[in-house]
Amino acid sequence: MTKTIVLSSDHAAIDLRQAVAKHIKAKGYTVDDIGPVTPESTHYPKHGEAAARKVASGEADLGVILCGTGQGIMMAANKVNGIRCGCCTDEFSASMIRAHNNANMLSIGARVVGEGLALALVDAFLDTEFEGGRHGTRADMIDAIEG
Ligand code: RB5
Repeated sequence: MTKTIVLSSDHAAIDLRQAVAKHIKAKGYTVDDIGPVTPESTHYPKHGEAAARKVASGEADLGVILCGTGQGIMMAANKVNGIRCGCCTDEFSASMIRAHNNANMLSIGARVVGEGLALALVDAFLDTEFEGGRHGTRADMIDAIEG
């Protein structure tokens, strides 16, 4: 079965999110793009939370979320139990948050990176598998902090 990737953003990243959605679809994934679609100013925490809840519940396998910096929406997503979300601006980190941290969400800043780099970050994230082993112990330790 194809993996489902949930996408969300705030107003600052609508265009980039739509480019990311097209790119992820072209890679063969199912995309659940939960918006927003209109450009009015909105609040990134609710969009980060909405995508994170889909990942945490298993409705989506992984998530990609975007805001102006990628930082605020990442912080919101990481408040949801079971979410390990990293905000990346380089491909090495986007790959390593999967390989070592078992990240289930990637955050991108639309005012920080251009479209070409954003799509490369998405590729690095989606094309990398979690390595498990000692990294599994550490990822479990992150989740245990949730209480
Ligand atoms: C919106 O202006 C901006 O604050 C938001 O997109 C994001 O950068 C927050 O972290």
